[in-house]
Order: sequence, then C-alpha cells, then structure tokens
Amino acid sequence: MPRYHESIMKKEVLHYLNNHMEGVIVDGTLGDGGHTEFILKNTGPKIKVLGIDRDQFAIERAEKRLHRFGSRIRLVHGSFENLQSLVIQSGITKINGLLLDFGVSSSQLDTPSRGFSIRNDGPLDMRMDNSQITTAAILLEKLKDEELISILKNFGEERFAKKVVGAIRREQKKGPITRTSLLSKVVSEVIKPKRNSRIHPATKTFQALRIAVNNELEQIKIVLKDAVGLLDASARIVAISFHSLEDRIVKTFFRKEEKGCTCPSKIPVCICGNNQTLNILTRRPICPSTEELAMNPRSVSAKLRVAERVYV
Ligand SMILES: C[S@@+](CC[C@H](N)C(=O)[O-])C[C@H]1O[C@@H](n2cnc3c(N)ncnc32)[C@H](O)[C@@H]1O
Repeated sequence: MPRYHESIMKKEVLHYLNNHMEGVIVDGTLGDGGHTEFILKNTGPKIKVLGIDRDQFAIERAEKRLHRFGSRIRLVHGSFENLQSLVIQSGITKINGLLLDFGVSSSQLDTPSRGFSIRNDGPLDMRMDNSQITTAAILLEKLKDEELISILKNFGEERFAKKVVGAIRREQKKGPITRTSLLSKVVSEVIKPKRNSRIHPATKTFQALRIAVNNELEQIKIVLKDAVGLLDASARIVAISFHSLEDRIVKTFFRKEEKGCTCPSKIPVCICGNNQTLNILTRRPICPSTEELAMNPRSVSAKLRVAERVYV
C-alpha cells in the first residue's frame, strides 16, 4: 500500500478554516484525509467534516484513518462538481468552510495501476473515478489530431503539441498506446529534456491528458460557483492549486465575486444587480515554507488562496 499523501500547508489551511465554533466544513478533495484529520484534531467537538472524493479508493483509505472521529466525520463518494446535491443529500443547508486541494494525491500517483505515473509503467488510465468509462488510452484513440493538439496546448501548455501528436500517431500505426511507459517513451523521442532539469519531457503531455480525462478545469469552475450559495456568513473557501491553469480560475473567480457589480464604469447606476459575495483574504497566494519544501518537494508548485463569504 502506498504511503499516505503528505498534506500541504496543513497549518495554513487550519488557520483559515478555524473561524467558526460549530458547523460543517466540507473537504471537497478528501484524498487520504490528511487535512481533514488535522482539522478534526485541532477543532472543537462541534465542528464536523463532510469529506468528498471522486475516487472510491481514496474514500476507503481515508475511512480507516478517520473513523475514530465518529459522528464528526461523514465521507461521500462523488465529484465536487455536484457539491450542492452532495451537501443537501447529507442533510446540510449551509456550510462553514470549504477546502479544495486540487489535482491527484501521492497515493494515486504512486500506484502504477492507476496510470498517472510517467516513470512507473501501468495501464494508460488516469481516471480518478474508476466508474467513469473514458481512460487516457481511449482518449488517444478517439480524439482527432486537432482536438488532441488543443488539449496538449490548453491543458499542458505544451509548445511542441503538434510534434507530440505526430509521434503518437506514428506509434499508433503499429498498435494502440495502452501503457504509460510507451507514451512517455514516444514523447521523449521528440522532446529533448532541458539541460540540468529533472522534469520529464512527457510531464506536460501527462498533465494535459489527466486534466482532459477528468474534466478537471470545468469542475473547478462549477464547484466555486456552487460554493458561494452554500457558504454561511464569514465561511471561507480555501483553494490549493498546483499549476497556473487551476490558480488562474480561482484567482479570476475570487476577483469577480469580490467586485460584484459588472456594469461598465461609464454607467452611473448599477443595472447588473450583482452583489459582492466574497472578500479576498490572500492578495497574493500563500506558498509552502522553506521547511515544508525541504520535507515535501512535491509541494513546490502549490499556491493557496482564501476568500470569505460576505452578505451585503
Ligand atoms: C491532492 S489530493 C488531496 C489530498 C488531501 N487533501 C490529503 O490531505 O490527503 C486531491 C484529491 O482530490 C480528488 N479529486 C480531484 N478532483 C475531484 C473532484 N472533482 N471531486 C472530488 N474529488 C476530486 C482526487 O481524487 C484526490 O484524491
């Protein structure tokens, strides 16, 4: 069994979510339950957590770690894109905090059979939710060249998208690409590693495919919008992003909701009727400390942003 995922910026997460004496905090990306465990250990008995993950294996692992908290914890298998219904089905009407720690966990990355790993061979899968049908291997087969190029450019910021797709197509003439090791080899043959860099040449391709397989960016937009309707007064959204695409969505959403009115500045009286819903608490994102980076190098690209619900 892989080691538990090392939770990122645990103290900072707790600091921002610990502003209510009672109520429900939703951990929308439960993973191995590390953040949730830290929150439950360091808050009073009237704070409960609803943990959500779209990965059934994550729910099972977290269950073992968290069952000792009894009625303070409830775990649900599902995607945070259905936040509203998952919360309502759990008998909750308002929430007192939301944690979103995007991306995949170390446990998912370090289990080759899940197909996320560039360095360890496994089936080219990449589904967070195994009940979903489309895997990365299926996507490679069914997408047209232009679609695949656009995924690599938009979700992986891969400058050499055309070259990569060309190499994939040449390989597919010999047979389908169904293993992670084959995909990383094919990409490495057309993209040379940067000098002195430990980053694998297929990193961007893997990131792009993973985002596409799991429809990650769309789901982030949905959960942020839905959260606003569920948050109680002064409840906070804490979002941890791992690449600029995620971070941009969070930053843009927080700014829009803080501004409220979207009328052009020329118009003297507001006609859009949009009110401010959030107050940004982190003008600049918070990054892991030097000590945390030394202990957990995987935290290097993490950025934490927080906004608080206001009712005006
Ligand atoms: C970085 S890990 C979270 C680690 C966790 N905070 C901890 O301390 O152990 C991200 C988790 O979010 C889950 N996830 C990603 N997108 C999701 C979504 N749309 N809905 C629910 N869970 C999601 C993944 O399956 C993964 O388990």
